Amino acid sequence: MQIMMVAPIKKRKLGKNGLEVSALGLGCMGLNFGYGPATDKKEAIALIRKAHDMGVTFFDTAEIYGPLTNEEVVGEALSPFRKEVVIATKFGFKPASKDETHWSALESRPEHIKTVVEGSLKRLKTDVIDLYYQHRVDPQVPIEEVAGAVKDLIQAGKVKHFGLSEAGVQTIRRAHAVQPVTALQSEYSMWWREPEAEILPTLEELGIGFVPFSPLGKGFLTGAIHQDTKFDKTDFRNVVPRFAEENRKANQGIVDWLTAFARKKNSTAAQVALSWVLAQKPWIVPIPGTTKIHCLEENLQAADLILTKEDLHEIEQAFAGIQVQGARYPQHLMERVGR
Ligand SMILES: NC(=O)c1ccc[n+]([C@@H]2O[C@H](COP(=O)([O-])OP(=O)(O)OC[C@H]3O[C@@H](n4cnc5c(N)ncnc54)[C@H](OP(=O)(O)O)[C@@H]3O)[C@@H](O)[C@H]2O)c1
Repeated sequence: MQIMMVAPIKKRKLGKNGLEVSALGLGCMGLNFGYGPATDKKEAIALIRKAHDMGVTFFDTAEIYGPLTNEEVVGEALSPFRKEVVIATKFGFKPASKDETHWSALESRPEHIKTVVEGSLKRLKTDVIDLYYQHRVDPQVPIEEVAGAVKDLIQAGKVKHFGLSEAGVQTIRRAHAVQPVTALQSEYSMWWREPEAEILPTLEELGIGFVPFSPLGKGFLTGAIHQDTKFDKTDFRNVVPRFAEENRKANQGIVDWLTAFARKKNSTAAQVALSWVLAQKPWIVPIPGTTKIHCLEENLQAADLILTKEDLHEIEQAFAGIQVQGARYPQHLMERVGR
């Protein structure tokens, strides 16, 4: 019998208090939300448990994913080894009307946060949330009040760490002054580098970790999506300008270059995309999402792919000559980004 020795995934620390997690986490959203029909519950649980078996200790979900069902799946999947893993979830939305399936209204009033945390704890089958993010900045509620509410939850032992998502630098500073922020979660990848201008220097100064979402460019940077790809009618990418057919065609050169570069490194485009994010700072922990075990295995190997200084320079040079086409969000969702 041949025994395969697999090195455990390296660990990284988020924030000054040193929340230790695997260098790559698992984004669980796509199992129930955003990218077409939900994955069968048993399969979703098997995928999450496989990630744990392979050394992933950081799992990302949110109240709004489903809504609610993604937290249930994550909770059930992780309950046998709850103490070994870090669960991150998010508050900050509510149903916009009586139609409970359409959660488009922002809601971060302290009393709301203190109510909905109970639902998240229950669905996650846990008595404490390791990392509790505000999902989007709520312009109706001063961030100090939000930070104060999470501080109370930390003091009550219901939450361990505070996080923000897609917040701007002023919001981060104000929140951090009330309750130290452990991590900021925002979009960041080879084709969305805006956080480099202001966000990353601020996080470095304050000692806050960074959790990039959509590190695979919502799938595009893997090479699996082309001009002719047809998304399910419920797939969010149907309304994302960057995924409009003409922009997919215009952006194809990015993936062609990445795939050729990856071949030289004996790896895949997805692995280079993730390794590139990891190479930017030692306090960055991307959370790629997938519904497929073979993609999970492929993605996790990125933690062992080393990009040399020369590799990073070559990538830099190649991307300097590329103008990515299409906005990353439609206008109404851009307005939700807190900066
Ligand atoms: N804070 C926020 O506002 C926010 C927003 C978006 C996402 N997130 C979090 O970030 C996580 C990751 O972001 P994301 O899911 O938007 O984007 P992503 O990780 O960049 O890409 C996910 C997409 O890539 C595909 N994929 C993954 N690995 C692949 C591989 N090796 N080969 C081919 N295709 C592959 C997946 O499809 P398959 O399932 O077919 O593999 C899926 O369609 C989410 O799960 C969620 O937890 C947070």
